[in-house]
Amino acid sequence: MMEVVRTVAEMRERVAGWRHTGERISLVPTMGALHEGHMSLVRQGDELSDRSVVSIFVNPTQFAPHEDFTTYPRDESRDLAMLEKADVDLVFAPDVTQMYRDDHRTKVEVQGLSQILEGQFRPQFFIGVATVCAKLLIQTMPDVAIFGEKDYQQLCVIRAMARDLDLPVQIIGGDTIRESDGLAMSSRNTYLSNTERTLAPYLHQEITGVARRVKSGDAIEVACADATQQLDAAGFKSVDYVAVRDAETLEMPAQGRPMRVLAAAWLGKTRLIDNVAV
Ligand code: PAF
Repeated sequence: MMEVVRTVAEMRERVAGWRHTGERISLVPTMGALHEGHMSLVRQGDELSDRSVVSIFVNPTQFAPHEDFTTYPRDESRDLAMLEKADVDLVFAPDVTQMYRDDHRTKVEVQGLSQILEGQFRPQFFIGVATVCAKLLIQTMPDVAIFGEKDYQQLCVIRAMARDLDLPVQIIGGDTIRESDGLAMSSRNTYLSNTERTLAPYLHQEITGVARRVKSGDAIEVACADATQQLDAAGFKSVDYVAVRDAETLEMPAQGRPMRVLAAAWLGKTRLIDNVAV
């Protein structure tokens, strides 16, 4: 039977009981509005552990004042039904006052990694993410935590944070799950109008094209500039970046190292991000 708890104390009590009997624990942190992408992380968590915990918390500190915190999709009963069906053991669904006291003052920042790419456009985002994930990992103390590769830079930030803070947890990246036309699944896809939805798969198409060209030896700058131009022409209102980076450090790519193509672009009022391996 899946249990839903809303306080840190209750969650810790359940997890401590499992740890006492030597059971392996997994955590999948989410902001709810679950889709098949989340569910594949949940299945991965289940396979890698004896007890699976999923957190649902729309974290206010990772949204800028002009962003979509208040309108972010929320449907807890639907989320819980999906998690129950997936045999999750425990759902941790705290409210804001559980996670942040009025006098909360601590921020976690992974320097460098948090300022580039997404960080240039959303300067506080990774500080909010790293802070809430540090809290969730310390509260739960899982053996393994799973984050989607869809948010590739987030995964890199969390890996660096867990390593720097010596958190005794293995951070695992889960594959991006795509719609049949290539669009990466995201809770924010529900914001797209019908016309925008038909254009959205171009983002994946273009970054896949960049990966192919870079692999075959084309100049990175030219491939990225061409993709940006194609997205503009297709109707993306503004392309924040199309970049090729080192797949581990997200620094400029070096010969012989694994690379990743990452992009962010706006379709109307919706900001889409995606990435693929070269
Ligand atoms: O990827 C997300 O849904 C969020 O950024 C996360 C990791 C749950 C932290 O709030």
